[in-house]
Amino acid sequence: MNARKDKVIRSTDVDALSSRYFAVKKDYIDDPYMDIMVDGLKELLPFTSNINFSISRNLKSAFETPKLPAINRGTYIRTKSIDLVVEQFLRKFKEEPEVQVVSIGAGSDTRPFKFLSLYSNLKYFEYDFVESVKIKKAIILRNKELSSIVKFQNLNDVEKDFSNYQEFLRYDENLFTPNYNLCPIDLRLLGDKYNINSLQNLNPNIPTLILGECVLCYMEPADANQVIKFFHDNLNKSSILLYEPIGGDDNFGNVMVKNLSSRGISLPNLMHYNTLEKQFERFTKELKIENLQIADMNFVLNNWIDGDELNRINHLEFLDEVEEIVLMNKHYCLILAQWGDLNFKPIQKFQLVHE
Ligand SMILES: C[S@@+](CC[C@H](N)C(=O)[O-])C[C@H]1O[C@@H](n2cnc3c(N)ncnc32)[C@H](O)[C@@H]1O
Repeated sequence: MNARKDKVIRSTDVDALSSRYFAVKKDYIDDPYMDIMVDGLKELLPFTSNINFSISRNLKSAFETPKLPAINRGTYIRTKSIDLVVEQFLRKFKEEPEVQVVSIGAGSDTRPFKFLSLYSNLKYFEYDFVESVKIKKAIILRNKELSSIVKFQNLNDVEKDFSNYQEFLRYDENLFTPNYNLCPIDLRLLGDKYNINSLQNLNPNIPTLILGECVLCYMEPADANQVIKFFHDNLNKSSILLYEPIGGDDNFGNVMVKNLSSRGISLPNLMHYNTLEKQFERFTKELKIENLQIADMNFVLNNWIDGDELNRINHLEFLDEVEEIVLMNKHYCLILAQWGDLNFKPIQKFQLVHE
């Protein structure tokens, strides 16, 4: 494990959050918790290092430089499609006493607040590196609305937040409440340092949706597969929803890899499982998970979004890079796999299906 590389990987959360931030500002998506998360991150992230000048500068630029219309549309379909699947999963199991969502590499995602407000039987788990978890915990605890959504009982001996690097280092990293569990876990150590019993409060026997949005792509293929295998081996009725880039057989993937490597980011999975078919084989042959559906985001945009909504988003901003967005969407995919007695069937169509 390389601390410098991990720091760069952690910083991709700012990319994801700032993309959603601009998609919200331009009305592509709605997110009542976005400003709380962004303001919290701007204030607290600089304390996570003793050289905070460059962090502040990078953060400022991330939230001041609007994204191109093509990026906003990519963010729209990414967020919307994942929400559609999560919503259907929670609706299907709303009469169960309990249902779980486990978000791996959760970063600053605001989904837990949205879905915990809607489903009283939901237990939400979020795992990420320790630094990211500490910031999210502090953002939640210092905000009344978020603390109340996660049913945090205000105990006097709990430190709400931190205001310098030394306090950050000492800040406790776990947050366990009746409906929410935020824990520092390096996902590469699942099955090694962590067994299923170390994932506190997780129940292996109830319907569970594992959510990995742009996370496994940063790991070596063997590590990423070990994460999936860990949940497959340990959870009895579960589904996993992944949003992943795929390199493709064309130049686009090479350019993507080159652009990211100039920032010190490597995406080992991107060229290894670089097509829908290879992702398909990865699950059915390598991981032996048979119940599987996969689609690229171009297919998802054209088949999951109704005409009125497409018309609405097409009129939000002028876009002259139409071919570029088709190409970009073909280089990201959604993978939905499941096992155990779950029988979860979203109504949306996928491109490749195996039951
Ligand atoms: C691109 S961000 C995505 C964040 C969030 N899922 C979203 O889409 O908004 C990738 C996240 O995965 C986390 N991550 C990557 N590798 C990880 C690992 N080995 N263990 C824990 N978290 C990891 C990073 O820290 C970061 O928060």
